[in-house]
Amino acid sequence: MGKAAQKGIVSFHATQIRDFAADRHHTVDDTPYGGGEGMLMKADVLHAAWKSITGLEKKPEKGAKTLTIMTSPQGPRFDQGMAKELAGYEKIIFVCGHYEGVDERFIELCVDREVSIGDYVLTGGELPALVMADTITRLLPGVVGNDRSLTEDSLENGLLKYPQYTRPRDFEGLSVPDVLLSGDHKAIALWRKQQMRDRTASKRPDLLKK
Ligand code: ADE
Repeated sequence: MGKAAQKGIVSFHATQIRDFAADRHHTVDDTPYGGGEGMLMKADVLHAAWKSITGLEKKPEKGAKTLTIMTSPQGPRFDQGMAKELAGYEKIIFVCGHYEGVDERFIELCVDREVSIGDYVLTGGELPALVMADTITRLLPGVVGNDRSLTEDSLENGLLKYPQYTRPRDFEGLSVPDVLLSGDHKAIALWRKQQMRDRTASKRPDLLKK
């Protein structure tokens, strides 16, 4: 991500939500109406922070080039396919959920999507935001040296990557598969394709079903 930013391909900005609290104690959370566990992030504070970035009062109707994502274990699961889609946006705002939740009115007004990075609960949305930002950044043209290594990624086309070897040719009694030394590019491509299917079937059968 740092290298991509240095190259000017992408830029990252962090907004301190606390700076938008109106009171002297910089309060960003409060107890839920109706009672219940924990604290909620305040809609007015989140809205002021969001407005400082977008210049808008509420999210635009469909077709905008900016997308507001709230990290939440309740959203659809982030995956490589979603990353590709998100890489098409000009600007993405990640709202890092915290505490026990967020006032629903902020979500209604400003959030386009809630997205989860997996079925487990983190203490906050910062790591999910970084996970997504990293994955998306990697897909932008010029970030990964060789664009072909993107199309051969694990999970590209829903399959895991084939096994790979570099020098030395023999290591601890294990040698590189003969086909890779054959110079027969057609045979190598075929072997790799077969390996992708076999590996996916044995390591991640759920992906094949998808
Ligand atoms: N916040 C807490 N847990 C999360 C998760 N799994 N994905 C996204 N945001 C979260």
